[in-house]
Amino acid sequence: MSTVEKLFSFEGKVIVITGAAGAIGSAAGHLLASLGANVVISDLNEAGAIKVAEEIEKETGKKTLGIRSDATNEADLVNLVEKTIQQFGKISGLINNVGWGASTPIWGSDSEKMVKSYLLNTVGSYNLTKLCMPYLEKEPNASVVFSGSMVGVTPSPEFIEYSTAKAGLMNMVKSLAVVSGPKVRFNTVLIGSVDNGDSTLAAGYTPEMLQALANMFVMKRRGKPLEIAYGMMFLMSDAAQWITGIDLKIDGGGTYKSKMPNQD
Ligand SMILES: NC(=O)c1ccc[n+]([C@@H]2O[C@H](COP(=O)([O-])OP(=O)(O)OC[C@H]3O[C@@H](n4cnc5c(N)ncnc54)[C@H](O)[C@@H]3O)[C@@H](O)[C@H]2O)c1
Repeated sequence: MSTVEKLFSFEGKVIVITGAAGAIGSAAGHLLASLGANVVISDLNEAGAIKVAEEIEKETGKKTLGIRSDATNEADLVNLVEKTIQQFGKISGLINNVGWGASTPIWGSDSEKMVKSYLLNTVGSYNLTKLCMPYLEKEPNASVVFSGSMVGVTPSPEFIEYSTAKAGLMNMVKSLAVVSGPKVRFNTVLIGSVDNGDSTLAAGYTPEMLQALANMFVMKRRGKPLEIAYGMMFLMSDAAQWITGIDLKIDGGGTYKSKMPNQD
């Protein structure tokens, strides 16, 4: 095995991924298992989680667990950790990938919608991380990666609940990072618009809007789920052993607007 292959080997690691029946989570599961990890595919969508786990196992030969777990339900999260330990005996890494948010008119939100989004996008990841910490602290180069969003770092009035919750998530990650070193590393992948099929359409976009959005990016297209999974894999790998508390932005270069009016 070359030095680079060793750095990106996940042999002997057990990695829990949330929202893993979806586009980015399932791509991360496939990638990490192909590099040697046993992955736990957890999702609210039980049939989806089991299907992805079966596909990974078939593709890689690595024992994979598919399990229903609602990120907003603490009992489900306890069950997720218990089942992982029963099956694999340890947790070496966690990808808190779960999240979603619909577009809301700026004054169309209320307490219930705001809190619901916060529970899904922020609190669920806090609760699961807390449950995993005793196991993570025992593992070498333990790493936790979160799915952040560009809407959490830019004004995003069209997604007021989701963007506010993601902003909270990303600040939380930095707090977790400073208290958890050197044992456990915490980083965020700061994600731009990625093709996840119907999920973005359900959030309020039309295909025409998505095409217009793609044209605004420096790279002139939306991202592919695997392009985000590569970043997650890097942050979890031994190549990233001195990296904690960062936001790794993967957004196709973002959108560019000239600072000189009428010059772009
Ligand atoms: N796709 C993008 O453009 C984009 C951009 C920025 C950030 N992100 C973030 O990346 C992450 C993954 O996004 P994706 O594009 O793969 O989305 P996706 O919609 O394809 O997958 C999300 C998954 O989360 C699951 N889920 C929903 N509610 C849940 C709950 N309560 N408990 C457990 N699972 C639940 C869904 O069943 C789904 O399988 C999310 O946190 C999202 O906010 C995505």
